[in-house]
Amino acid sequence: MRNPAVDPAMIRASFVHPNQARRGIGRRLLELSEAAAAAAGFQRIEIVATLPGVPLYASFHYETVERFNIALSNGENLPVERMRKRPTHSPTAPAS
Ligand SMILES: CC(C)(COP(=O)(O)OP(=O)(O)OC[C@H]1O[C@@H](n2cnc3c(N)ncnc32)[C@H](O)[C@@H]1OP(=O)(O)O)[C@@H](O)C(=O)NCCC(=O)NCCS
Repeated sequence: MRNPAVDPAMIRASFVHPNQARRGIGRRLLELSEAAAAAAGFQRIEIVATLPGVPLYASFHYETVERFNIALSNGENLPVERMRKRPTHSPTAPAS
């Protein structure tokens, strides 16, 4: 389990059907994910992005900190970028 005090929140594997691309769905998924991370108290967010996702995350001010390949079971290599940012939303105040 990740500790919001020391670990980054991890946003994983977002996919939008090609027929629905560039209609703002990916942006909305990311906004909701960032809000949830901030509400949970995370100070940083990390994504391991496949290359088609990099423009979306860059538009949200994620910065690439590492490029590497993930070895797939079929012998192919999947190039990815580790990207990081701090949440832009304020944590939700605890219920009183
Ligand atoms: C990446 C992905 C989730 C984006 O979803 P989407 O719903 O098409 O994205 P949005 O319409 O919300 O785009 C938001 C912004 O991201 C950027 N963006 C998204 N796709 C882009 C592309 N192909 N080229 C350049 N910029 C892109 C743009 O700034 C865009 O804003 P704009 O349309 O006003 O210019 C989708 O293309 C996808 O499923 N790709 C394959 C899987 C993948 O790579 N997932 C991410 C890996 S973790």
